[in-house]
Amino acid sequence: MKTVKFNLNGVAREVETWPDEPLVEVLRDTFKIKSLKAACGPQRECGCCLALIDGTPKVTCSVKIAQVEGRSILTLDGVSDNERQLYADAFQAVAGLQCGFCTPGLVLRIKYLTDQEQPLSRAEFARALDGHLCRCTGYVKILDAAELVQMAKRGGPLPAVIDDGGVGKRLKRYQGGALALGVRPFVADIDVPGMLHGAVALSSHARARVVRIDTANALKLPGVAAVATAKDVPGDRWVGQIYRDWPCFVAEGEEVRYVGDIVAAVAADNPRIARQAASLIEVTYEPLTPVLDPAEAIKLGAPQVNPKHDNLLSVTRYARGDVEAGLAASAHLATGTWTTQRIEHLFLEPEAALAVPLADRRLHIYSQGQGIFEDRRQIASVLGEAEDRVFVELVPNGGGFGGKEDMTIQAQTAVLARLTGRPVRIVLNREESIRIHPKRHPLTMTYTVGCDVEGRLMAAKVNILGDSGAYASVGGKVLERAAGHACGPYRVPAVAVEAIAAYTNNPPCGAMRGFGVNQTSFAIEGCLDLLAAKVGINRWEMRWRNVMRIGDVFTTGQILEKSVGIEKTLLAVKPAYDAACQQGRAVGIACGIKNCGLGNGAIEYGKCRLVVQPDGMIDLHTGFTEMGQGLLTVLTQCAVEVTGLPAGLFRPQVNSHFELGAGQTTGSRASLLGGRAVIDAALKLKADLNNGATLASLAGHIYTGETRIDDTTAPGELKNGKIKTHTTFGWATQVVVLGDDGAVERVIAAHDVGRALNPQQCEAQIEGAVHMGLGYALTEELPCKDGMPLTFKLREIGVLRAQHMPKVEVILIEEHEPEGPFGAKGTGELGLVPTAGAVAGALEAFDGERRMRLPMKDSPAARAINLGNIPDAERDKWH
Ligand code: FES
Ligand code: FES
Repeated sequence: MKTVKFNLNGVAREVETWPDEPLVEVLRDTFKIKSLKAACGPQRECGCCLALIDGTPKVTCSVKIAQVEGRSILTLDGVSDNERQLYADAFQAVAGLQCGFCTPGLVLRIKYLTDQEQPLSRAEFARALDGHLCRCTGYVKILDAAELVQMAKRGGPLPAVIDDGGVGKRLKRYQGGALALGVRPFVADIDVPGMLHGAVALSSHARARVVRIDTANALKLPGVAAVATAKDVPGDRWVGQIYRDWPCFVAEGEEVRYVGDIVAAVAADNPRIARQAASLIEVTYEPLTPVLDPAEAIKLGAPQVNPKHDNLLSVTRYARGDVEAGLAASAHLATGTWTTQRIEHLFLEPEAALAVPLADRRLHIYSQGQGIFEDRRQIASVLGEAEDRVFVELVPNGGGFGGKEDMTIQAQTAVLARLTGRPVRIVLNREESIRIHPKRHPLTMTYTVGCDVEGRLMAAKVNILGDSGAYASVGGKVLERAAGHACGPYRVPAVAVEAIAAYTNNPPCGAMRGFGVNQTSFAIEGCLDLLAAKVGINRWEMRWRNVMRIGDVFTTGQILEKSVGIEKTLLAVKPAYDAACQQGRAVGIACGIKNCGLGNGAIEYGKCRLVVQPDGMIDLHTGFTEMGQGLLTVLTQCAVEVTGLPAGLFRPQVNSHFELGAGQTTGSRASLLGGRAVIDAALKLKADLNNGATLASLAGHIYTGETRIDDTTAPGELKNGKIKTHTTFGWATQVVVLGDDGAVERVIAAHDVGRALNPQQCEAQIEGAVHMGLGYALTEELPCKDGMPLTFKLREIGVLRAQHMPKVEVILIEEHEPEGPFGAKGTGELGLVPTAGAVAGALEAFDGERRMRLPMKDSPAARAINLGNIPDAERDKWH
């Protein structure tokens, strides 16, 4: 141990600690500087832990505490109130933040940059932000915020924040200011008196029999309070959203099935001891040959991966019309096999859970999950306790994108809290996060699509195989959506689609933004391009001749009756498409469709409670998760629109105080169902207000809102004599234009959102999704060897930085959806559905090569993206 003295935010400080302790840990744990976030440490690749050390920006995860002896450290907490307000306003004015996890680091960088004498251009700002990663925004609005700050500091106008308004207004994000400054806590920021810190021990094999788990050495380590294994689980060890096929601890005698399986968990006085103890747990394995190829996995005689289910996880089929006759009669055919890669969500906030035993013996769980009532059900089951013994509170998370639907460490944290009787918090590091949570499926998709001489589609035959990894998660449902959307937004009279999900010993695959539709979109858009060339018409025209209109039949058999905005999106991009073609640019175009709501026969609920409090505020309870998409803001706007009350009176929140279980926040459905429920409750409050009541007189009143969707049909079923697999769909067309060097220069994205509840947030969602779609198209992948990811490094995973983003122009189309709140439909997923297809088309226009495998790393567009660190000279310029 060593005593280190330094100046922190203008105050002389000293601390006695291990000299090699990362500065970020000391500042967060000892000095409670929570504006610094830890997202990748010590990779130095996200910028979330940025501080100014002697005036120079440094990521504090790679600085040892001993290195700051005698130095001066500034964090956002030490910046003047006026200046802090400027940053908070700038980011809120332009929706420059979504989940907010990356934002404080960016704010401090922008402070540093805008304090310099020389003003920066937008391109210079983008290059200077290279050390920062944002997974939500696509950087467009972050750069807008930087420009606003720079302008204000040079005497320009102060950012104008809209702090009230109902539907259609650009209302600021709920808690946006506190998020921008890093003062709204995430789970890892919540400290509780007497809290222990947890760590997990993961399997070192993709497939092996666990012979023995020896915890003796870990238990002997001073500071260790408990070590939990399967033997310590009082209830049902097996969890899972659909199938309970996933043990929260793998037991002795059982097989580990992937490299994210948890064999033990430790609770200790501090995170350092907890991790050391986890490393002392000795597990004896009998290695077995892993099953890594989904095609091999479903062959007769393959070893069974999961004891609860054979390797064939699911088969979905859609068949309509005579496909063979349709293909035989076609004038032109497009055939081929398209393949897509495994994708890591890479939300910036790694998983964290906090379990606090309450005086009444209940357990209070602070969760970041995408469905807290699902969390509660599964945690209670693991503990063997009634659900009402477990109170779950959502701490809005730092990004989810589907990757926080499955349980990760909530149950293990709860078990440790019960074992010790003390609060326990587990925070995963980046490697653990990547190893544990499910990914986006790699799919292999074989298509044969035919059209007549004029390019009108006649028939499509599609076979899809997906690697779902070691556990079911929602893999079967993902392949179901892939099958249903296999022909995209196009009218195809005869279809035969089969989609198979298989278990393997690779990392599990489950929900990720787009839910199987990004993959099939890449394939069907490739087919449309190939057919357009054979017919001899341009790609826009090919799509115009085939997109669905009212009365047309979707791949699932559903007849479209309302809110079909695809024609309008095509017309919206036409001027830009035509102009770019005329200029001789390499242009790609793709259309997209994505269901809103689970559909496929699921009975879905939205629930809401509005509680008028004595202080005149109204608590707005919902069961859906805020994860950066802006749900709590748009639900507030729905309540404002109905009641006419100011937005500032509403306190949206998510906890299990009321029974508001509505399933996972997934499938672009939270605004749809949550919004409808809020309207239902708000109308009741409004009726009382109309009858002369005041909020003061209504204190204590609870207004309930509930909505139910029960008319969708499962694949192959009819209800009320018809097929209605989905409540509604979002529609989009995107155009990608390349520059002279083959780099992506411009993306035009026209999206039918039904009604833009908050136009600024809609734009932000689409910009962020396009960013994710470009990474998907060009650079992102998570390859595995023997079931183990080959890298845990953020840059190597391939997420784009600010300087790689092209110009993105969003066009919002509002094709009223009668079943949506104020006509709205979900926007969260569709934004990246067409992107890879449009990029592939543009690349073919550039160099004549039709690419059928993602990511398209062999392309000039990918080569133009230098994901390595920017050159030293450039970095020195920005420090
Ligand atoms: S946590 Fe320090 S750069 Fe990512
Ligand atoms: S807002 Fe940047 S990571 Fe979420």
